[in-house]
Amino acid sequence: MSNAQSPILFLDSGIGGLSVMQAAAKIMPHQKFLYAADYAGAPYGTKSEAEIASRVPALLGRLAERYKPSLITIACNTACTIALPHVRAALNLPIVGTVPAIKPASLMTKTGVIGLLGTNATIRQPYIVRLKDRFAPDYIMLNHGAPELVNAAEAKLRGDTVNLDILAQALSGLTNQKHGDKLDHIILGCTHFPLLMEELKHLMPEMVFLDGADGIARQIERLMIDNKTPPAQDGIPKHHFITSGNLEGISAYKPALKGYGFAEYAQI
Ligand code: DGL
Repeated sequence: MSNAQSPILFLDSGIGGLSVMQAAAKIMPHQKFLYAADYAGAPYGTKSEAEIASRVPALLGRLAERYKPSLITIACNTACTIALPHVRAALNLPIVGTVPAIKPASLMTKTGVIGLLGTNATIRQPYIVRLKDRFAPDYIMLNHGAPELVNAAEAKLRGDTVNLDILAQALSGLTNQKHGDKLDHIILGCTHFPLLMEELKHLMPEMVFLDGADGIARQIERLMIDNKTPPAQDGIPKHHFITSGNLEGISAYKPALKGYGFAEYAQI
């Protein structure tokens, strides 16, 4: 690392967690971030529960050992809905998770019909049913797995044109369901999806798309204060991007990554 400050570590299968990191950077501009993209294990959304439950804690254990982060944010709904308890049990560090914004959607809906877009692995988790039963017991929640949006967000960050037909098809996976015509809030339950916010809003201007990034950022900030972790050095910190994939694979992402404040790239 280029300076002595312990970074806040963000983990996702790819670049989706940048949606969370960006919200954190907005309220903590002087914190240094270490972003880990597990491209060697991506995508997570098509993996089994057992694969995620063993891969994510093991990887985070190695990263914690090597980079000594002050806090870990699992910036991935798939990994959290499956592996968060395993990670917390394995590591003696503050761990912040990412869960679909079912609670805020339930507080805001007027029609009582909310939608959840996530990976196939996320939407089948019992954890999602528990969140719905706890926060939105009287409402209808429609779920749809949209792995193609993960690819679309990755492609966008590589500078490719976003194919709106693919996004429209994912949205119709919700709107074509029974009660789909009454949807007024769609939860983006995968951290990749907010990176497509502009295009999603273009396709459905009346819809409210919700993600949990701002709430997660506030939670990180609270824990950093509780742990009395000092803010970074003077000036704007340069963030560090690491990947389990090969470095050549991320060269197409670099122009976009630069805009997120990354200055160093390395292989895990
Ligand atoms: N960004 C991840 C999430 O929030 C998953 C993407 C993937 O399938 O790897 O669920």
